[in-house]
Amino acid sequence: MKKRILTGITTTGTPHIGNYIGAIRPAVELSSNNDESFFFLADYHSIIKNQDSLSIKESVKDIALAWLSCGLDPKKTCFYRQSDVPEIMELTWILNCVTAKGLMNRAHAYKAATALNDNDPDKGITMGLFSYPVLMAADILMFDSTHVPVGSDQMQHLEMTRDIAARFNHLYKPLFTLPEPIIDNDEKVVPGLDGRKMSKSYNNVIPLLGSDKKLKKSIMKIVTNSLEPGEPKNPNDCTLFELYKYFANADEINEFKNAYEEGISWGDAKDILFNIINAELLPIRSKYEDLINDQDYLNDVLGEGAKKARTLAQEKIEKVKEVIGLTKIS
Ligand code: TRP
Repeated sequence: MKKRILTGITTTGTPHIGNYIGAIRPAVELSSNNDESFFFLADYHSIIKNQDSLSIKESVKDIALAWLSCGLDPKKTCFYRQSDVPEIMELTWILNCVTAKGLMNRAHAYKAATALNDNDPDKGITMGLFSYPVLMAADILMFDSTHVPVGSDQMQHLEMTRDIAARFNHLYKPLFTLPEPIIDNDEKVVPGLDGRKMSKSYNNVIPLLGSDKKLKKSIMKIVTNSLEPGEPKNPNDCTLFELYKYFANADEINEFKNAYEEGISWGDAKDILFNIINAELLPIRSKYEDLINDQDYLNDVLGEGAKKARTLAQEKIEKVKEVIGLTKIS
């Protein structure tokens, strides 16, 4: 049976090198094989924690253009925006009605949010945050996805999706496919400027879509130790080296390692890192420039994607409504 791979991209912030290495690059690779793929911009997920409409709007655009610039082919992949497919919202409600509250109580993301509260466990918790996994289940089940690439942080959500689908199938009719995870065994924790995980919340990111000047400036800020040129350096436990490994082949990695042992200066090491990252980003940057100047391109692409996705979603939601009794009065 042909696989149907589906994944959602929460549209918050602007993409950085960590997103590129951890999510965009592997997903674009995955989408270029023969399976069917569905990639969507999870903009309804993005409003759970962000009420700044301008940043929501900009982020959808930045992220969509980033994925397309990185080689996602909208002819091969159904690429759409979640909010363009309102049937997902209908399914979300229907699934809410078969989802046990107790199941949601156990969600790690929700528990982590309540754990920050001292007296009132509900402080700052919206229903959106609480029922987030149900929306994710609707995203996945709507399209009969067979496979969902997940990081460890999303694994529990996928298990919940399977639970919810099984519950629906048991109560009504087996309409939903239980999705399998695609787990990346060497999950990448990409270090940021200060060596901690690259993350917008640590303010330690290297942007993906900036100019080469900006890239250079970011790389110059990467924290190293104070060893002098000529002193042998340890490539393990070094942010520069860790980042280099994500862009280099085996020979280049070996060569860089030797340079460390021979006492390369941090300035030279940063130049080498800059050159290899810049070479990979050059074509991406130039495609981004083209796309951003073409006003209609993104709307056309997302319009096409929405059309494809909606056709399937409408068919599915009809069947779902039928089995739950929301049909034409006869
Ligand atoms: N929750 C996912 C994340 O934060 C994004 C997402 C939303 C998703 N819906 C999905 C991922 C459906 C896979 C399938 O990364």
